[in-house]
Amino acid sequence: MGMLDGKVAFITGAARGQGRSHAIRLASEGADIIAIDLMEEIPGAPYSRATEEDLAETVRQVEALDRRIIATKADVRDFEQVRSAVDAGVAELGRLDIVAANAGIFTGIGIVEEITEETWQNQLDTNLTGAWHTAKATIPHLKAGGRGGSIVITSSGAGIRGIANIGAYVSAKTGVVGLMRTLALELAPYRIRVNSLHPTQVNTPMITNDPTYRLFAPHIPEPTLEDFEQVSTGLHPFPLPWVEPIDVSNALLFLVSDLGRYITGAKIPLSLGSYE
Ligand SMILES: NC(=O)c1ccc[n+]([C@@H]2O[C@H](COP(=O)([O-])OP(=O)(O)OC[C@H]3O[C@@H](n4cnc5c(N)ncnc54)[C@H](O)[C@@H]3O)[C@@H](O)[C@H]2O)c1
Repeated sequence: MGMLDGKVAFITGAARGQGRSHAIRLASEGADIIAIDLMEEIPGAPYSRATEEDLAETVRQVEALDRRIIATKADVRDFEQVRSAVDAGVAELGRLDIVAANAGIFTGIGIVEEITEETWQNQLDTNLTGAWHTAKATIPHLKAGGRGGSIVITSSGAGIRGIANIGAYVSAKTGVVGLMRTLALELAPYRIRVNSLHPTQVNTPMITNDPTYRLFAPHIPEPTLEDFEQVSTGLHPFPLPWVEPIDVSNALLFLVSDLGRYITGAKIPLSLGSYE
């Protein structure tokens, strides 16, 4: 018996990182998965893009758990692409119960007055508007099911406090908290719960790259992964540099399963003690 037997989850940004981990964790508890990812170059991103092979690996790992998965290429910045992926997935798998608005980008390292128009807009379009598109495309299916449901938006520690040198990211990740709070009120009568996750550094390709090391260790000329690890550990009362994707997936599982059945409108920190 799994905690999510018979349920269907829609996950954005599922090719790798936390999104893949979410797909596997929810599938391991019995959920079937509808997955999308962009798998394109992200302008200004200091890390490599996710690939078709990455999404195929997510599919392989979910199917190895004997669950079904419908995985397609779609861009959360484009509402019609999200809607058609969701509609097709629900038509195939028969229902929708769980939504993980996880897709995101990390670009625009530098002070606010120097952020370019393109960087600002792409951040907001992906990390804020993308979460709205994900909610807008899925809510009709959740309501139609008449069984309640759960939406979880991945924000960040950057959605809880200001952080110098990543102003566009902070603005988008703070914006989704307002979206989450509003949706929690609008959807409560339908027993659809809406919460946000706020991880500190998570060990994914988004942060394991030179520009991120320089962001965290500007006092070191050519910082290495080990320098980043040391600085990042120093930021956390709990003496670790980052959490792993599975830690975020386990918090997601708690929120979307019956364990979290009356939790809505909540910001859940995975902060190693550095914010609440
Ligand atoms: N890694 C961290 O330290 C960290 C910390 C806090 C929050 N987050 C957030 O967690 C979420 C997952 O990030 P991750 O760490 O797994 O990074 P990642 O880069 O490994 O994964 C993000 C995925 O989102 C996809 N994506 C990007 N733009 C998209 C778009 N327009 N449409 C569809 N898919 C798109 C990417 O292709 C990629 O597969 C993001 O929202 C990120 O901002 C990350």
